[in-house]
Amino acid sequence: MKSRIINYNLAAEKAIFEMQSDIGAIENDPLLFEEKNFDQRTEAIDFIEFQIIDQIEGLLGETNQSDKLLLLKHRAEKVKSELEKINIILFRKLQKDIRNVGYTGKEFKSLVNKHVDFNLDDNEHQEEPGYDNLDIFINGLLSPKTMPEQTKDLEPEMVFYQKTPARIIFELADKIKFAKEDVFFDLGSGLGQAGILVNLLTGVTAKGVEFEPAFCDYSQDCVKKLNLSHITFINADARQADYSDGTIFFMYTPFNGEILQEVLEILRKESLLRKIKIITYGPCTPKIASQSWLDSAVSKDDNIYKLAVFTSLQN
Ligand SMILES: C[S@@+](CC[C@H](N)C(=O)[O-])C[C@H]1O[C@@H](n2cnc3c(N)ncnc32)[C@H](O)[C@@H]1O
Repeated sequence: MKSRIINYNLAAEKAIFEMQSDIGAIENDPLLFEEKNFDQRTEAIDFIEFQIIDQIEGLLGETNQSDKLLLLKHRAEKVKSELEKINIILFRKLQKDIRNVGYTGKEFKSLVNKHVDFNLDDNEHQEEPGYDNLDIFINGLLSPKTMPEQTKDLEPEMVFYQKTPARIIFELADKIKFAKEDVFFDLGSGLGQAGILVNLLTGVTAKGVEFEPAFCDYSQDCVKKLNLSHITFINADARQADYSDGTIFFMYTPFNGEILQEVLEILRKESLLRKIKIITYGPCTPKIASQSWLDSAVSKDDNIYKLAVFTSLQN
């Protein structure tokens, strides 16, 4: 028993030594403190949180090294917060630029690309909605405020809020040849990121329909803070919204069952008046793939965590 404790303390000593050297390397790497190096900084923040602080918390109370561990934890938290502050300053600066200068289309994409290296080809192989550095960057830029509490109960067929991964929206903006007069609708728009990103990446008018008023206010607030135009968030049940100017409809599975069927019927009627596209992501895709009034290369058995594009057959 005694030798097991000694071995454990020796292992803890070794772990402390390694963590001290890892923190030292982060503290002394000037590149991590340069505003533009968002990707590397994000990796470092992640490493501190999950490889250092979590490890310290696991060791605390288990060894006779508590004093050393607490000092190390304090040092890790300090450098983490310094790195996070650089991101906050970076986002404030970029928000000011978007507000005052306005960045749309290629300019917005290259502003993001300057800070985050992302490859949209990876989207093809995702088996679930995974999030990455692009999401951390877009959240910091567009949705820095804490998410509001839900104020209304969802009906059983309504799906709770979950964000579409940002790279899926980047792919959508690349893949769909938007025309100037297109009007993009995000059905069940949550905190508004999909509509805001599509507007920033393509310049088209974007609208979001969201059941939860607090989410809608949050989205509208974002638009106001960034001084964006041609984006509106409508607080309504998707079964009651006005789609008369919509041409491109996006759904990250906002609802299912009869609600989905009812909304699809509304969209089918709209498609008799003009050609529309429906773009889906997630578990609602097979249901939409089975609609005879829509054309698509998507089969019911395709990966649901891949963008699926459907075009109405009439008009
Ligand atoms: C999976 S989330 C999608 C979020 C958003 N589209 C995005 O990509 O970030 C589903 C959203 O749909 C909303 N929702 C569910 N049922 C709805 C309905 N009948 N009408 C409008 N919004 C609804 C939920 O409140 C939630 O915010």
